[in-house]
Amino acid sequence: MTLSETEQPDSTDRPWVLPRHVAIIMDGNGRWAAERGLSRVEGHRAGTENVRGVIGTCLDWDIEVLTLYAFSTENWLRPRDEINSLFSILGDVIDRETDELRRVGVRVRHLGSLDGVPESLADRVRYAVAATRDNHRLSLNVAFNYGARVEILRAVRRIVNCGLNPAEIDEATISDNLYTAGQPDPDLIIRTAGEMRLSNFLLWQAAYAEYWCTEVYWPDLTPELFRRALRDFSRRQRRFGGLPAPAPAGT
Ligand code: IPE
Ligand code: IPE
Ligand code: MG
Repeated sequence: MTLSETEQPDSTDRPWVLPRHVAIIMDGNGRWAAERGLSRVEGHRAGTENVRGVIGTCLDWDIEVLTLYAFSTENWLRPRDEINSLFSILGDVIDRETDELRRVGVRVRHLGSLDGVPESLADRVRYAVAATRDNHRLSLNVAFNYGARVEILRAVRRIVNCGLNPAEIDEATISDNLYTAGQPDPDLIIRTAGEMRLSNFLLWQAAYAEYWCTEVYWPDLTPELFRRALRDFSRRQRRFGGLPAPAPAGT
């Protein structure tokens, strides 16, 4: 199945208000596998199958940015075998999907560092980014070897290196020095597998994000459930610290 062949959502299904940027903490691959008597690695492989459907919905519904949390700076604490398998799975996904992503207008961006990453995988990540850099339809941020605290620390170092006067530093200076520079902050952060934490994800950018959590493990998150999250988002009342918008006259 190619991206263009993913199931087309019913257009009446499409909410009026959609997030510009959706970020997903794809959690629960290990528990999904354990429940089936499979290895954790099989869970991680299964967790790549539904990504296409999620990207397809983002393309259909004109979402600008989709961020997927693939590997955190803390995930180095896992057994070496699991880390190697995760790296090999990501390399396979890049080999398999980059041409199609380029064809349908997706721009891949990498959030994170390639330090310590095996050279063959680092090359593939750089290739996916370079091969899709002229695309504008959807930015697909792959948060890989990503940690928000390291990202903020890196931003501080870059700002200090520029020799800016402290009085000249504002919130935009910080935002412009994060991996997500130039992109809107996430409006919606989805987390699967029942956990209610950010796990060092987009700490600065998430200041006013809406959260949507489900007990469903990541490999079981279908495009239908993803669209439900987007519809739920469209009914949220965002205030950004202000007062609720007045109800329309006559209601
Ligand atoms: C998410 O699934 C994938 C990564 C963190 C790389 P987990 O591997 O965290 O799955 P659980 O949380 O153990 O079920
Ligand atoms: C967060 O999941 C990281 C990714 C999804 C890549 P974790 O499974 O690593 O998070 P914790 O350890 O449960 O907080
Ligand atoms: Mg987990």
